[in-house]
Amino acid sequence: MEKIIIGSDHAGFNLKNKLISYIQAKGIEVYDAGTYNTESCDYPIIAKNVANKIAQKEYERGILICGTGIGMSMAANKVKGIRAAVVSDTCSAKMSRLHNNSNILCLGERIVGEELAKDITDIWLTTEFLGERHQRRINMIED
Ligand code: RB5
Repeated sequence: MEKIIIGSDHAGFNLKNKLISYIQAKGIEVYDAGTYNTESCDYPIIAKNVANKIAQKEYERGILICGTGIGMSMAANKVKGIRAAVVSDTCSAKMSRLHNNSNILCLGERIVGEELAKDITDIWLTTEFLGERHQRRINMIED
């Protein structure tokens, strides 16, 4: 599987570390784009950095974590080519890949527990985009 980029603010820091270990244990390479401690920081900076690297095709997909996942998704979706989805259930994780070809998964450490976050991550990483009519709709978003 491709290399994944992951980032968080202070509110997503603990879940980020847990997911990094979890993803690495599957043999997938993970680049940690920060933040690197629990000191308060601004999520738009991390979101922009991760989103730009994906938009520039340095990475195919990434994960962003903040308190709710909402701020990260709002910031990441400002970057052209980014389809960031805030997900807090496994069905949405699957559908965000099948129909929306989401290239950033946004999670809220204050919303989802560790085990659910791992299940969501698993499904999101392994589900392939269906293409066809869904690609046409994604093209409409891009246009
Ligand atoms: C930080 O307190 C919090 O606002 C941030 O992590 C995030 O939840 C924003 O959407």
